[in-house]
Amino acid sequence: MHHPPFGRASLFLLLFLISIGYARYCVHNEKSWCEGHNIWGWCFHNKSSGVFNCDDDSFCISQDQLKNKKSSGCFLRDNSSVCCCNDADGCNLGFISVPPKYAHGQQCVNSMEIPNEDIRLFKPCDDPYCYSVLTAEEDGGPTTVTRGCHSRKMVMHHMSKNEDDKFQNNTKWKETKQIADMPSCSEILKDQPKMNGTTSLCIDFTFDQEPEDGEEVEEPIRMKGRFCCCEGTNKCNEQAMWADEGISLAELLEEIENRKSATSGASEISSLVSAIFTFLVFTF
Ligand SMILES: *[C@@H]1O[C@H](CO)[C@@H](O)[C@H](O)[C@H]1NC(C)=O
Ligand SMILES: *[C@@H]1O[C@H](CO)[C@@H](O)[C@H](O)[C@H]1NC(C)=O
Ligand SMILES: *[C@@H]1O[C@H](CO)[C@@H](O)[C@H](O)[C@H]1NC(C)=O
Ligand SMILES: *[C@@H]1O[C@H](CO)[C@@H](O)[C@H](O)[C@H]1NC(C)=O
Repeated sequence: MHHPPFGRASLFLLLFLISIGYARYCVHNEKSWCEGHNIWGWCFHNKSSGVFNCDDDSFCISQDQLKNKKSSGCFLRDNSSVCCCNDADGCNLGFISVPPKYAHGQQCVNSMEIPNEDIRLFKPCDDPYCYSVLTAEEDGGPTTVTRGCHSRKMVMHHMSKNEDDKFQNNTKWKETKQIADMPSCSEILKDQPKMNGTTSLCIDFTFDQEPEDGEEVEEPIRMKGRFCCCEGTNKCNEQAMWADEGISLAELLEEIENRKSATSGASEISSLVSAIFTFLVFTF
């Protein structure tokens, strides 16, 4: 008998090396973004449940009519409209505006306001979450405001970071590092009430302004920032101001920690219950 274990191993290695450089980036409703496989990776959206992900439950990959295709479209299954695409990174955002339109997600204002410059208004974009970021010197002064589509920004951030890690030729991710380091909008809005159709919350933080390249500074400028997420109505990110209600980043992180220990506490109890149950079963 002839066993070619090495041949098979090197085939896998080859496939691995081919695959390593390519990923399919999609929008994820809880994590903001996710990374699937470029060759057989699909982006998924369920218009009934609002789920966006990297085909985590293998719905798209198991559809015969999609086998080995570049494709994009929605199916009606058991009264819910479910959508698959693999034709571009972040392509599942495109399903927000196909019928039933805006069942989940909405249109966000996409703009930049820099002090002493004209407001730059970009094309509005569709996203599960809209955001805005305000920054100013801590003791006051003019505010810089960025508004846009949160999940789309996070997909682009991680794509450019990945390219930069590999080829050292794309520093665009540095512009969005601050919001990429924040908890996801899904986490931020988790316990917020809906008011007038919109759920929103702002998170306050402070940071030191990074000196420009090559610039020598003795004392960095202390800055304040405010990161807001919203969902529900179109342009819900149009208005966020310093005066609106907000919580500090420390408070938010503490709340997220509490949520985690609440759920792990519950699973500890249930494993204790099942341990007791097993014990009883073995005893009798
Ligand atoms: C889509 O969401 C609906 C409502 O939550 C659910 O009943 C259905 O099973 C989901 N479909 C898929 C393919 O995930
Ligand atoms: C689909 O919706 C129709 C009308 O609302 C309902 O009569 C039917 O039972 C639903 N089917 C399923 C599989 O949920
Ligand atoms: C970075 O380099 C890679 C590989 O050479 C290339 O495919 C990609 O387009 C480059 N990206 C930018 C932003 O120049
Ligand atoms: C909700 O809408 C009503 C009417 O437009 C307005 O008076 C009220 O202030 C709004 N409430 C909030 C919390 O935005």
